[in-house]
Amino acid sequence: MTTSAKINGWLVNTAIQSTDCRSKPDIMTENFFQNNCLALEPYRGIMFAMTNSIPILTIDGPSGSGKGTISRIVSQKLGWHYLDSGALYRAIAVAASWNDLDLADPSALVRCTFDTDIAFEDEEGSELKIIVNGADATHELRTETAGAAASAIAAIPEVREALVERQRSFAKAPGLVTDGRDMGTVIFPEAQFKIFLTASASERAERRYKQLIDKGVSVTLDGLLREILARDARDSQRTVAPLKPAHDAVSIDTTGLAIDEVVQRVLSVVQAK
Ligand code: DC
Repeated sequence: MTTSAKINGWLVNTAIQSTDCRSKPDIMTENFFQNNCLALEPYRGIMFAMTNSIPILTIDGPSGSGKGTISRIVSQKLGWHYLDSGALYRAIAVAASWNDLDLADPSALVRCTFDTDIAFEDEEGSELKIIVNGADATHELRTETAGAAASAIAAIPEVREALVERQRSFAKAPGLVTDGRDMGTVIFPEAQFKIFLTASASERAERRYKQLIDKGVSVTLDGLLREILARDARDSQRTVAPLKPAHDAVSIDTTGLAIDEVVQRVLSVVQAK
């Protein structure tokens, strides 16, 4: 049985396969989805897991832990799709700034989340391109300003909620590699492979410093370190989906490791299962 319905504005296609579900057909009708999406909330993660056998590798971690670089390389090596979930929050931040929205106005930001069209162009050998409402926002998205605004917007529960199904829709054959803060804990709690990447704050600030200097952006190491520590605190202390390792995640400390070494360690987690 397949049903499709709009939940909080997103079209959801769900193949119902579980005998548990069939024994409760009344909760699986389209009307139920449409009228009771809030009541369904506690079941969504479970339903997702029951109806998807696509392999998923989640890579969570703090800013600058290398998860973006590592995830993209690993996805290319595995030939799986890639979702940079932080780019979604950054895209909302950029769209909000284009529309002069106030970061202290949650309802405007929630509306902006529903109204913003975000597309990825992921081609091997070139930077992941992010198109926001039809315009290439790749560079604006990667600025420290967009990162800090994304972190503030990401603390609004309704914004997170509005992005749940959009993120889950990336799970497609032959597999998905996804990075963020809550991929293994909230968005894909039943993922088969989970990694939590860490690195010392000073190494993360240095990596970011090198990246920005290479791009010709003028920054100071001290300023970046302060920004990283503030973002860590905001992302891990928020009440909804805080940054933390899933209980079944493998933690890898990337301090002092080369990219290739981290890629190999991550691949070995996938190959070991
Ligand atoms: O990974 P990033 O630096 O691009 O993410 C930008 C911000 O978005 C980050 O500070 C916190 C937020 N974020 C989140 O709350 N949950 C995610 N899954 C990904 C990012």
